[in-house]
Amino acid sequence: MTKKILLTTLMLGILSPLLSAQSGEAVYKKACQTCHAAGVAGAPKKGDSAAWKTRLAKGMPALVKSIKAGKNAMPPGGMCTDCSDADYKAAIKYMSSSKK
Ligand code: HEC
Repeated sequence: MTKKILLTTLMLGILSPLLSAQSGEAVYKKACQTCHAAGVAGAPKKGDSAAWKTRLAKGMPALVKSIKAGKNAMPPGGMCTDCSDADYKAAIKYMSSSKK
């Protein structure tokens, strides 16, 4: 019994930082990189600042909206099931920065 409670507490301790605010890198690695690492089906590649520049010109809110609604080959939500708007923004910032 005590063991179970301990285990639950431990798991919550590990998971809660992930659930509250995810880092752009974490979101990218779990959901976005499938397509955005290699540029599958015309996806703007991570670190390709030229490709991201034209996207970013639309403004963050518009980009977050198009992820949530899906865009052409990108499925609604970009394959992230638990991402908040802030998580998407962080992932966009992470992918569009030129450092690899
Ligand atoms: C199944 C593949 C796939 C996954 C997974 C995916 N994307 Fe995309 N994404 C695409 C493709 C393809 C495009 C280009 C769509 C177009 O403009 O034709 C795109 C475009 C975008 C754009 C630009 C949208 C616009 O309006 O110009 C953003 C921002 C973006 N993705 C963010 C993300 C984020 C953040 C994630 C992870 C949470 C993600 N994507 C996951 C395939 C994917």
